[in-house]
Amino acid sequence: MRKNGHILYGLKVLCSDKALEICHNRQTVYKLLTFLALYNGIARKLKGEHYMSHAVTRALFDEVMVPNYAPAAIIPVKGEGSRLWDQDGREYIDFAGGIAVNCLGHCHPALVKSLTDQGNSLWHLSNVLTNEPALRLAKKLVDSTFSEKVFFCNSGAEANEAALKLARRYAIEHGSADKTKIIAFEQGFHGRTFFTVTVGGQATYSDGFGPKPGDVEHIPYNDLAALEAIIDDQTCAVMMEPLQGEGGIISPDLEFAQKVRELCDKHQALLIFDEVQTGVGRTGELYAYMGLGVTPDILTSAKALGGGFPIGAMLTTTAIAASMKVGTHGSTYGGNPLACAVAETTFDIVNSEEVLSGVKQREQWFREALNRINEKYQVFAEVRGKGLLLGAVLNEQYQGRARDFLVAAAAEGLMVLVAGANVVRFTPSLIVPQADVESGMQRFEQAVANVVNG
Ligand SMILES: Cc1ncc(COP(=O)(O)O)c(C=O)c1O
Repeated sequence: MRKNGHILYGLKVLCSDKALEICHNRQTVYKLLTFLALYNGIARKLKGEHYMSHAVTRALFDEVMVPNYAPAAIIPVKGEGSRLWDQDGREYIDFAGGIAVNCLGHCHPALVKSLTDQGNSLWHLSNVLTNEPALRLAKKLVDSTFSEKVFFCNSGAEANEAALKLARRYAIEHGSADKTKIIAFEQGFHGRTFFTVTVGGQATYSDGFGPKPGDVEHIPYNDLAALEAIIDDQTCAVMMEPLQGEGGIISPDLEFAQKVRELCDKHQALLIFDEVQTGVGRTGELYAYMGLGVTPDILTSAKALGGGFPIGAMLTTTAIAASMKVGTHGSTYGGNPLACAVAETTFDIVNSEEVLSGVKQREQWFREALNRINEKYQVFAEVRGKGLLLGAVLNEQYQGRARDFLVAAAAEGLMVLVAGANVVRFTPSLIVPQADVESGMQRFEQAVANVVNG
C-alpha cells in the first residue's frame, strides 16, 4: 500500500508544469489523478489499511470545525528538527515553529524520551495532589529567574489571566478597593480569554462580545508621556510584552522600559511582563527582561516552555503570590506531570550557554540572508526584533502584503509567519541547523522573487 501511495505521489510530481506542457491537458490529468486517488482510497479501505489516509482532508476542517481559524490547504503529518512533511510526502522547512513554540524543533529525541518516560509512569493527578515533575520545574524556574513562586497552567492566555487576577487581588488587599486600573499597550497581545483580549490592544479581538472587564486603559508602546499622563495611585498594574510579537515585532526603548519600572514603583503598581512569546531563550536571553535590565513583579511564560507540549506558567515573588490564597484561582490540568516533565527537559536544554549563544549566532545568519535578499529585491524597510523573533518589515511598495509573502514561501516549501499586514515574522527552532537556515533562505528568496515578479 505504501507503494501505491508513492505511485500516486509520483504521478502528482509528474503532473508538474513540465509534464503538463507535454500533455497539454491539465483537466484530463487531474481527472486521472482523482480517479487514482479514489481507487487508492477504496483499495486501502478494502484491505483495512488507514495510515496516510486522505480520508482526513482539509475539506473535513470546514465540515466539522468551528470556523474561527483558516488553516493552510496542506496537512502536515510528520515533523523532525526544522522539517515538516505533509500528507503527500512534500517536505517543508519550518521557520514558524508552531508560532514560536517548537523551540527545539519537531520531535526532539530528549523531549520524546521525557514524554514517553513520564507517559509510562504517571499522567495526571489534578492539584489535589502535587507531583515531582512540577516541583522540579518550578524549582528550576525560581533558581534561574527573579521569581520565588510559580503557578502552572496550560497556555499563555491562562498565565496572563492568572497574572491579571493576581494583580487586582494584590492591589485591593494592599491598596484600596478602587486600585483596579490596568494600563496596557496598543497592538499588545495577551491571549484570547475575555480579560486578556480586553487588556490586549487590538479591538478586533475584543469587540463584539458584549460588556468587557472594566478599568483597562491602552496607550501607545514606547510613549513615555502617555504613560506619565495616565498612571496614578489607582493603577494596580502595567502589563507589557518586553518585545511586542503579534503587534509587529517592536522592541521597547531601553529608557522607556526603565521608566515604566520607576513609575510602577512610584505608584505601587505591579509590572507584569508577558513573556509568552519572548521567553525561554527566544531573544537569546533565558527571558527577555534579562536583556532589558528591568525586572518585573510578575512574568508569564508559555509557548516555548513546553517545547510543543501545552503548558503555561506565572512567576512572581513570595510577597505578591501570598494574595493567591487557597481557592482564589486554579486549573485542573495546571502542573500536569506530562507537561512538566517535557518542560523540565526543554528548560534544561535551552537554559545553557550553548543554546542561548547559538540563538545570537542564528540571528546573524537570518539577518545576513534577509539583508542579502533585500539588496537584490528591495522589499523590506528594515529587519527588526531580537534573537530568533525577527520581523522583516515591508517597505512602502509592499504595504499590506505580508500574507502574499507567506503564501509564496509555503508554495516554495517554507513555513513563515506574519505579524500584522506589513511584517513577515520568523520564529524558527532555537537550534535550527545552519544548512536548514541556508536552504530555507534560498526558498524564501525564490518566494520573494515570485511576489516581486507577480
Ligand atoms: C505575547 C503573547 N501573550 C499571550 C499569548 C497567548 O498565548 P496562548 O495562545 O498560548 O493562549 C500569545 C500568543 O501568541 C502571545 O504572543
